[in-house]
Amino acid sequence: MNKFEGLRKKFEEKEKLVMLTAYDVVMGRILDEAGIDLVLVGDSMAMVVLGDKNTKEISLDEMINHTRAVSRGVEKAIVIGDMPIGTYDEPEQALENTRKFLDAGADAIKIEGNKREVLKKLIENGIQVQAHLGLLPQTAKEMKVQGRTEEQAKEILRDAKEVAEQGCFSLVLEGVPQKLAKRITKEIDIPTIGIGAGIHCSGQVLVINDLLGLFDDFKQKFVKRYADVRKTIFDAVVEFKKDVKNGKFPDETHS
Ligand code: KIV
Repeated sequence: MNKFEGLRKKFEEKEKLVMLTAYDVVMGRILDEAGIDLVLVGDSMAMVVLGDKNTKEISLDEMINHTRAVSRGVEKAIVIGDMPIGTYDEPEQALENTRKFLDAGADAIKIEGNKREVLKKLIENGIQVQAHLGLLPQTAKEMKVQGRTEEQAKEILRDAKEVAEQGCFSLVLEGVPQKLAKRITKEIDIPTIGIGAGIHCSGQVLVINDLLGLFDDFKQKFVKRYADVRKTIFDAVVEFKKDVKNGKFPDETHS
């Protein structure tokens, strides 16, 4: 059974799916050892690793290099490369850039929005695609919940059905009302992976730095912190500084 058949089996058996982001080999290895189903090399890297204000400026090369690093640490999970803005506007361009992610070790790619012609091209060429609907950070004017009005909700539901019918293997639903995510999850036959989309999705995704308490510029409501790694690192660094200043490091055992 290949990775995608394995994921499909879990979905059909109604096992909740778990996805997290990773940006380097160490994190890829940890997530894989922990049995995470899907590892996304997300363009959220722009903000949580590179210090950008949004995800609009990260380059294809940056994404490819980090996808290569993460892939080196992952054996079992599905590694997904997030296509940065401007790299999948046209079908041929999308296919060419997708192949760079696959060459770097990704098993699949993710794109934002229902880009019908692009999806058709990629899927016809055997590419495993994860769709992303709802709040689309690459193009959003405001980072706010999508699908609150009936018109918006209908559009998102229609797009969700289309991407599933086109053959995407899963769908990220970001920042949509719980009721809408529930309806989409019920009405389409591929797993929905929610972030800020409530409890009814087939699975959940978080940005690893948020979960670990490593990114504290701001905290969104849907984020749950499972650790305070920033504090752990800070305390260790302060301790090291003290030891060096006081001549306690290195001692005989570390010399
Ligand atoms: O870039 C990213 O991390 C994402 C997730 C939030 C789904 O797209």
